Amino acid sequence: MRKIGKFRQMKQNGEKIAMLTAYDAPSARIAERVGVDLILVGDSVGMVMHGYDSTLPVTVDDMIMHSKAVRRGAQDTFIVADLPFMSYHISSEKTMEYAARFMQEAGADAIKVEGADDVVESIRRLTNAGVPVVGHLGLTPQSVAVLGGYRVQGKQLEDAKSLYDDARAIESAGACMLVLECVPDKIAAMIAKELSIPVIGIGAGEDTDGQVLVFHDVIGFNDGHIPKFVRQYANVGAEIEKGITSYVQDVKEKAFPASEHTFSTDDHMMKQFLA
Ligand code: KIV
Ligand code: NA
Repeated sequence: MRKIGKFRQMKQNGEKIAMLTAYDAPSARIAERVGVDLILVGDSVGMVMHGYDSTLPVTVDDMIMHSKAVRRGAQDTFIVADLPFMSYHISSEKTMEYAARFMQEAGADAIKVEGADDVVESIRRLTNAGVPVVGHLGLTPQSVAVLGGYRVQGKQLEDAKSLYDDARAIESAGACMLVLECVPDKIAAMIAKELSIPVIGIGAGEDTDGQVLVFHDVIGFNDGHIPKFVRQYANVGAEIEKGITSYVQDVKEKAFPASEHTFSTDDHMMKQFLA
């Protein structure tokens, strides 16, 4: 059942929303099986899976490809897909066209955009056109070059005030949900309380309506910097390393393949073949 109303209902019931990123079909399949409430095909894919040092190089085509893979893996789960860097700042026409591709081609249920100001008008237009939009405020990684780094936002009074105003503007423009990233817990709590749309936090404390984390951070398949707000629930990277180490060793020592991995012919045929 992929209905946006479910999340507003969960907020009203005080039932926490568990969101997780996914970028490929097998991960999406697991997320769906274990009951992740909604999947984010985040442009964090650029850093997590493509080895870029920011989300800026990620393209619309990249995001469409990953979104399709996630949809194949999780057919019954609500999927939000990120519009990547610059794709919704060129023109209103392009923004609408890309959003349509995410909905029609990639099977996304909603799209996510970072920031406020000019973006608020895009949220309004997209919503009017029938595209559910998720906002994203606080630390907005697509603006890392302007922000000057990945750090907590809204600690100063003026910043906290504009964060609050931006959140209100995004809700008024029709956004169906809001992600708050790296925001002090009390500010996030106040915004979540004031807004009637669900507010999902990442590094925004415990009082938002739900949480989102990056898939690879949760399972420990990430050798880069691990942000303060991550709790690692498994150590899959170490398991992968162990498995691959054994494989390489077995090949070198001729311990693999064994007879059970091998195809053979009958002796009579072989005799004729060699004759
Ligand atoms: O791209 C992403 O993974 C995100 C989340 C961190 C909110 O935008
Ligand atoms: Na993102």
